[in-house]
This record gives sequence, structure tokens and C-alpha cells, in this order.
Amino acid sequence: MSDILRRGRLSSTPDEKIHKFTSSMIDDAWIFDADILVDMAHTIMLYEQEIIKKEDCVSILSSLLKIRDEGIEKLDWSYEDIHISLESRLIDMVGEDIGGRMHSGRSRNDEVATCIRLVLRNQLLDLMDEINTLRESLLITASENLKTIMPGYTHLQHAQPTTFAHHLLAHTGALKRDFGRVLDAFSRINMCPLGAAAFASTGFDIDRSRTRELLGFEGIVENSMDAVSTRDFLIEAAFVCTNIMLNLSKMAEEIILWSTSEFNFIELDDQYASTSSIMPQKKNPDTAELIRGKCGVATGSLMSLITISKSLPLSYNRDLQEATPNIWKCVETTTTSLLIMAGMISTMKINKEAMELQSVNGFTTATELADTLVRVSGIPFRTAHQIVGMIAKDGHVPTLEIIDDAAYSVMQKKMSDLGLTEDIVHEALDPHLNIDRRKAAGGPASNEVLRCIGSGKDDLVSD
Ligand code: ARG
Repeated sequence: MSDILRRGRLSSTPDEKIHKFTSSMIDDAWIFDADILVDMAHTIMLYEQEIIKKEDCVSILSSLLKIRDEGIEKLDWSYEDIHISLESRLIDMVGEDIGGRMHSGRSRNDEVATCIRLVLRNQLLDLMDEINTLRESLLITASENLKTIMPGYTHLQHAQPTTFAHHLLAHTGALKRDFGRVLDAFSRINMCPLGAAAFASTGFDIDRSRTRELLGFEGIVENSMDAVSTRDFLIEAAFVCTNIMLNLSKMAEEIILWSTSEFNFIELDDQYASTSSIMPQKKNPDTAELIRGKCGVATGSLMSLITISKSLPLSYNRDLQEATPNIWKCVETTTTSLLIMAGMISTMKINKEAMELQSVNGFTTATELADTLVRVSGIPFRTAHQIVGMIAKDGHVPTLEIIDDAAYSVMQKKMSDLGLTEDIVHEALDPHLNIDRRKAAGGPASNEVLRCIGSGKDDLVSD
């Protein structure tokens, strides 16, 4: 088979090393089906615009379907990309007089940009599905843990009591925003560059709105130079994926910590764990570690895309070929990580006792005690903060007597003279009551969390 692009301006063919360096055939496997669709839409439009004859259109379309059924393996891999290899296969099947007409009025530049958008569009739909699967498993686990008390952390230090449900809802909030970002990116990806040709459109009387319609795009990328040059939509999609991976890496990190003997808050289902080849007792949270690691892969893809795009003069440059594989890796990694995370969450065992035991450790009720001093006595919060801080520093169990001593040294007044009783102190130190009192919007009180789970479920129905 002769190279149909090396019969005119070029005569010699690249040697093996040059071919491997320049060819995109391996990565083009991603766009094989899309390229057939793009070829078909373009061919139909050419016929409707009376640029090619009906019989030629019919034989091109039926051959394209045959090529699709034969699969990518049947193509000649010595070509520099899928587009030209596919065209060459078509010419082998129907002859150049017919097959050689398919490329009228277009270029590989608008062709490849259209293929990438077609594939990415579908991938983002899958990605959105997986975001929602994870949101759902978080909401289900949250509704089973409305009263599961745990310590909340800031700086990874025990801070205040919260519930496991409240903690999980923080992640659904982030995922809801991620969903919105994907949808937004989708709207800009769903635009058709086909018909821009090399960059300066074409003198053939093509109909860009018809190919747009056949391929189901929302609109066209209007300026023909912009249409073939831009890969901003890849950067945007990769950023959206990277942000999802950042969120997943935070969840993964928590799962890893919570699985340690020190925390012992959860136990992963065996499917999501590995053991050691030497230490027989080990149960390692490898899947969570891999999600954390794969966040780096997504970030790397985003950085590659940005760097490849930098300073490229208009219009098409072959550098762009290097950009494409990064998006496949990035979206695939993100979609799979979401799926794995959803499975991990819905199958893990939750050690409610260990969480509750830890929920008061480190004087997590100190804020509520200070708030109580303010509410009971009307002293300024800053003064109450100082009194409770002194008790915390001395490591005392805060009884009424201890509080009185601390208060006296700060204000020469006892809290008991200002209305504080042992019962009120007791209530302030009860983690369950701490949570019940935090019923402002978005707080951990169970009724409020229940309301948020309800609106999270409503969001899932509309998303
Ligand atoms: N493999 C190329 C890419 O991914 C296809 C477009 C080739 N265009 C060209 N003028 N050589 O960008």
C-alpha cells in the first residue's frame, strides 16, 4: 500500500524511528469510532450540497460502516494518523475515483478537533454519572449515620464534636459543585469545528450547520482559525477533572487515616484492601492510596496540556497532537477513581463506638463551654475564651469549681455567682447536646443534616 500523502510533495517515507516519533495511530484508537461518524456526516453533507454524487455517497457510507465493523486493527498502522489511514482503507475498498472525494472541503485539522470533542462529550457524560453515583453513596451512608458522633478536626487536631453524616455531606457539597463545572465545560465542548478545513474555511459550498446537526452539536465554533487551533476546552476539562481528583484525594487521605490502628474509625471491605507479601497481619488501604496518587496523574495531565498550548502561533500546529492523549488519561483516571471511591464508601464498616469514644477527647466541647459562659452570664466571648483556655492549658476536667477558680483569676468573679450550675456545665460538656445545639443552616444537628440530605437527594434528581 502506498502512502496516499507521499505521492506528491514528498517522496521518501520516514524510517521506523521517525514514524514512531510522529505517528498518533496508537492514541488515535480513542477517536476511531468518532472519526467514522465525522466522515459519515461530512459525506452526507457533501452529497446534500451536490458536491459529490448520490451513488458515491452511498458507497462511501457503506464502506465506512464496514471499516468500523472490521475495527481499527485492520487499518494500516504505517500511516501517521487514523484519519489518513482510514481514508486510505476507504480508497482501497471503493477506488480513488469515489473514496478520494471524501476529503473535499475539509482538513485533518478540523477533523481531529471534531473527533476529540465528540469523544470527550461522551466521556463527560460518563464522568457526570460517576459523580452522581458517589454523591448517592455518600448521601446513603450519611443517612445511616445521623447520630454517629465523631471528633471534627482543624489542623488535624480534635476541634469540636460533629457527626459522620455531617462530615460526609461536606464532600457531597464539593461534588455538587464539581458536577456543575463538568456541565459548564460540556456546553463549551459541545460545539462543532467541522468545516473550518485547514483554518481558512473552504471554497466548496459546504453547510456547517448540517454537519453540526448530524453530529448533534449545540452550535459551531465559528471562526475557522479558532476552530482548528483551540484546545482550551481540553484544559478546561482537565482542570475540572483535576479538581474532582483533588476532592477525591482528600477523601482518600481521610479513609487512609481512619483505617489506621490509631483512629480505627472504619474498616474497608477486603476488595478494596491489599495485604503484605511479608507481614501476614497487614490490611492496607491500597485503593485509597492509589486514588491519592492518581490525583498527581490528573494534575500532571493538566500541566502538560497548559504547557503544550503555551505560545502556539495560530493556527494548527502539530504540537497539538501531544495534547490529546493527556485528556484521555485525565478523564479516564477521574471517572474510574469516582467509581472506586463510591464502592469503597458504600461497603466500608463504620466503627461508631471508636468514633464516639474519640469525640470528646482533646476537650472538643471547650467552645460550647465558652459559649455557655457567655449565654449564662453575659460576659464577653473573649473573656470566656480566656477562662476556658486556662482550664484547657492546665488539663483540668472542667467542673463548676475549676471554672469558678479560673473565672475568679480573670475577673475576680465566680461563674456560680453569675448563674452557672453544675448541671449547665454538664450539658455544655455533652457532645450529643453540643451537636443538637448546632442547628443553624448547614450545621451538624440531626434535623438540619436530614434536611440537607433531602436537598442533596433533590439535587441528584435534577442533575
Ligand atoms: N494527528 C493529528 C493531531 O492529532 C491530526 C491532525 C494532523 N494535521 C496535520 N496538519 N498534520 O493533531
